[in-house]
Amino acid sequence: MSTKVYNILLVEDNAVDARVITEALTKTGEGAFAIQRAEQLSEALEKLRTQAIDLVLLDFMLPDSEGMATFTAVRKEAPNVPVVALTGVSDESIAIEAVRQGAQDFLVKGQVQPKALHRALYYAIERHKAQAAQLKHIQEGKTGKMIGVIGARGGVGTTTVALNVATALAKKHKDVIAVELLGSYSSFYDHFFYKKSRATLSSLDALMKLEPEKITPQEVERCLVKLPSGLGLLLGPQRVEDFTELQPDKTDALARALAGLGQYVVLDLQSHASAACQAAMKHCDFVVVVIDRTPTCVAAGKMTADLLQQLGVIPVRIGVVVVNRQPLPISVDVAEVLNTMGCQLVGVMPTATDACSEALRAGVPMVTGDPQGTASDALTEIADRLATEQFLGK
Ligand SMILES: Nc1ncnc2c1ncn2[C@@H]1O[C@H](COP(=O)(O)OP(=O)(O)OP(=O)(O)O)[C@@H](O)[C@H]1O
Ligand SMILES: [Mg+2]
Repeated sequence: MSTKVYNILLVEDNAVDARVITEALTKTGEGAFAIQRAEQLSEALEKLRTQAIDLVLLDFMLPDSEGMATFTAVRKEAPNVPVVALTGVSDESIAIEAVRQGAQDFLVKGQVQPKALHRALYYAIERHKAQAAQLKHIQEGKTGKMIGVIGARGGVGTTTVALNVATALAKKHKDVIAVELLGSYSSFYDHFFYKKSRATLSSLDALMKLEPEKITPQEVERCLVKLPSGLGLLLGPQRVEDFTELQPDKTDALARALAGLGQYVVLDLQSHASAACQAAMKHCDFVVVVIDRTPTCVAAGKMTADLLQQLGVIPVRIGVVVVNRQPLPISVDVAEVLNTMGCQLVGVMPTATDACSEALRAGVPMVTGDPQGTASDALTEIADRLATEQFLGK
């Protein structure tokens, strides 16, 4: 524990209770608390105005204020100072309400041992500091760029492109997150963890159970799986019982939260622009349409491009990644692909059957497992290009 001395403001009108708490906090020997007491709300507010207080230990029933009004007044005076509520056995429900409204914790008088009290305050201060730092990061950090990757059709290589681009970005930038916007079986799981572990990893479905306003950056952060490369993954569900229908208001909230968390966020949007997918796409700075060069896929790609334009969901920055999954008997020229779709080219991924298989076997994307390969080169180039202002804007 830290050796810093914390200034605690104990707001307690009952002299006996105040003495017990003060003794408990100063006796343990781990002690790093300087305690001062206020007997009334007005006195507490005055001290908060004039002194540097690290934590308020607050009895809600005071001579000049009662219940939630006491808490609200303290919060208003000192919104950045953590509060731990002190309650009697009978008014626990008010304390629970206070925690809901931002108090760090509550303690029931007469039931807390000195060591536990000491710990509760120490952790409340540290937790508050961590939350404040994260909030600051989020408020300042809406510089995050969001790249949507959508397939013209299923199976064209969307996930392969999305994961390799995210991995390549994570080599050069901090706070890169790849998200699988998917309510059914996770293919990210297969790409990284296939045969490695069958343990269920935290995933998107946990967030989709929350009301939109509860899908906060903190909650999203908790659901990320951090890889050794630094890349954060938000996986789709891994068990049938966790499959879920994605709701637009929730994917909207998710995209908002992600924009504050990552410097680059890559969304794997699969291949159909559902309402939930469209809601997330509204937040994208750029959308990549992945296609192969079969005439039917190019036609589907044109539909996707038209749909994106029509929806006006994006400040419309759209580009194409052509994946040559295999040599084709009839293939459309890249120039014609771009002409048909009316989009700019972001890059071409050459045929890489062996590199794809090896990446799956090893559980690492090819830009990491086979960095010298031609497909890895192409994918890294695509990532580098996407990170430029020309594509993502300032
Ligand atoms: N350039 C490539 N060359 C050869 N095979 C490739 C290439 N890119 C991807 N693949 C392979 O194609 C298959 C489909 O790829 P991927 O899962 O990325 O597609 P998807 O569009 O995300 O599919 P889904 O619609 O099922 O989500 C995989 O087996 C992958 O290894
Ligand atoms: Mg996929």
